[in-house]
Amino acid sequence: MAGAPQNLSKQRLSKPRDKKPRSPDKLMKQFSKACERNREPIGDVLQKVLPDGEEVTVLEVGSGTGQHGVAFARRFPRILWQPTNRPGRLESIKAWRREADLDNLLPPLCFDLFDESAPVEGADMVVAINVIHIAPFEATKQLFHHAQKLLEPGSPIFLYGPYRFRDRPLELSNERFDGFLQRRDPKSGLRLFEEVDQIADEHGFTHVETRRLPANNDAIWWVR
Ligand SMILES: C[S@@+](CC[C@H](N)C(=O)[O-])C[C@H]1O[C@@H](n2cnc3c(N)ncnc32)[C@H](O)[C@@H]1O
Repeated sequence: MAGAPQNLSKQRLSKPRDKKPRSPDKLMKQFSKACERNREPIGDVLQKVLPDGEEVTVLEVGSGTGQHGVAFARRFPRILWQPTNRPGRLESIKAWRREADLDNLLPPLCFDLFDESAPVEGADMVVAINVIHIAPFEATKQLFHHAQKLLEPGSPIFLYGPYRFRDRPLELSNERFDGFLQRRDPKSGLRLFEEVDQIADEHGFTHVETRRLPANNDAIWWVR
């Protein structure tokens, strides 16, 4: 009996393939598409904001997957990048770092903004990318509190993410994102730039510039 026409493409798909075992690091490494998209434009702004000199130490708060540390340590060989994250969230950062094998990318340290003290004694710059709309509002005060202790006068703190601005209607994409964040966790949500700036001011920081970047995000920096 002539059999029914066979679905060859299905057969091909179901054929067992030779699979290379994935290395432990590949399994640990988390991947953020947003990081891949924003590292170039953020890096272009960092180029302007990074303090002069060799071995400039940058403390990154809320390093997420660890991709930004790899990208910026590679792009700026003169900086020493110190990634950090909350307890239990260092494995991906470690895996990206091991794979990148860069001398100027330090092993990640455990740091929650609500910790009493920072994991380092000083830094030349503090960076927090997509952190303050995820953490509760009080975390922004903590961020500037730590930055004030860590940074010398003249040193910058650099934030990137989506913000509200008093004099600017909120973009539809950011309105939706804010709704999503608040449904997921009522303590998170887009921060009002003017409130963040007020906190910065209370901790001795002066706003330098706000730079619009793609996808309705802003890079904002202050100096102590
Ligand atoms: C949306 S992720 C961004 C990660 C990474 N910076 C990026 O842009 O891909 C938010 C990050 O903030 C961190 N975070 C949230 N609350 C924090 C807190 N209280 N202290 C320190 N980090 C915090 C999270 O662990 C996470 O790494």
